[in-house]
Amino acid sequence: MDSTFFDKHLERRGTGAFKWEAHKNPGPYYTPVPEEDVVPMWIADMDFETAPSIVERMMERVKHPAYGYYLPSAEYFDAIANWHATRYGNPMVKREYILNHTSVLAGVGAAVEAFTLPGENILINQTTYTGFQSTVKNLGRNLVYSPLVKDEKGVWRMNFEEMEKLIVANKISLMIFCSPHNPTGRVWEKWEIENVVNLCGKLGVKIVSDEIWADFVVDPTCKHIPTQSVSDLAKEIVTANYAPSKTFNLAGLQGSYSVTYNKQMRDKIDKIGSTTHSNAVSLLTLEACIGAYTGGAEYVDEMLKYVRKNQELMVDYFNTCEGVSVDLPQGTYVLWVNFDGLCDDVGVIRDKLREVGVITTDGRGFHGKTYLRFNCACPRANCEKAIKAMKKVFKSK
Ligand SMILES: Cc1ncc(COP(=O)(O)O)c(C=O)c1O
Repeated sequence: MDSTFFDKHLERRGTGAFKWEAHKNPGPYYTPVPEEDVVPMWIADMDFETAPSIVERMMERVKHPAYGYYLPSAEYFDAIANWHATRYGNPMVKREYILNHTSVLAGVGAAVEAFTLPGENILINQTTYTGFQSTVKNLGRNLVYSPLVKDEKGVWRMNFEEMEKLIVANKISLMIFCSPHNPTGRVWEKWEIENVVNLCGKLGVKIVSDEIWADFVVDPTCKHIPTQSVSDLAKEIVTANYAPSKTFNLAGLQGSYSVTYNKQMRDKIDKIGSTTHSNAVSLLTLEACIGAYTGGAEYVDEMLKYVRKNQELMVDYFNTCEGVSVDLPQGTYVLWVNFDGLCDDVGVIRDKLREVGVITTDGRGFHGKTYLRFNCACPRANCEKAIKAMKKVFKSK
């Protein structure tokens, strides 16, 4: 496999792909997008084919014409454990720690239900992925935000002093920790994760760690460190959520898993899932996960290199634009682009980009008022098309 695999144009129009269809719906803030010029760079799914090992595995299973009730196989659990050992350097994951969920948000939601009561406050860093906001709100809990701040080198950092104050003042017993962080792309360093764990441990706060982006370390000098791997305390107070969905473009199959070492915590999460049987995962999703984790490593390595080149291309372009600033992220396939040199509120920029076909994620939903998020997991030709279109919108320096 080489970069030409990811260069391939995969026609997704007409397949019901949300990324390629949603712009047609006239919503409250609707700006028409010219259909022939459309380059969707918003929702976090990829315009790449998934790994061949996944397709083969699923095809093979489809050939056996019975799709009744099945148990996750030992092969499934072994594939997960082996992926964590070889990709994240954590050989500690065992079959009994793993619970299934229909999605990562469902897993995070189960932890929210297990460890807080309606009306309680939950700590999270800001900016923040929209899904956390809606899930927590829908479950009748409140998010308390601790903003990330840029240090003197322009690196987004957590403000531990403020987090401590917020925990005490708001009687917080659960933190949602996003690692790597969407949308800033931070891949947290070990000392940062240790600080989060020690702070929470000291104040009796449990952590639900969302590591859906664990595979997306695009800066070769960084490494994803599973939150639970930093200490024994972390194993006691953290439940972590993973899925092959982001990494291999499988979100439409619905399926994820959590890892929880602490039995009491795990039993509570399990109870939430078993109550409505939402802990049952689709047969084909299990097959896809095995295909991903046993045969997809080369795909991920090549894909990350490809995505990095896309991000560099886009950042190089933005650096020529007046009023626009962006850094290459350490992780994820997105770019978190700041337009504060052009506006106080990004709506106007978002709309201008839609008018030339480029659809982005509106940063306001993430509490980034002057930001747009660009998804670079697409054939390079799409990035080139977007850049060409954006030249009609932005002035060069
Ligand atoms: C941090 C984070 N968590 C969860 C999700 C959603 O995952 P799922 O579709 O499995 O709920 C996303 C999707 O972009 C995400 O960025």
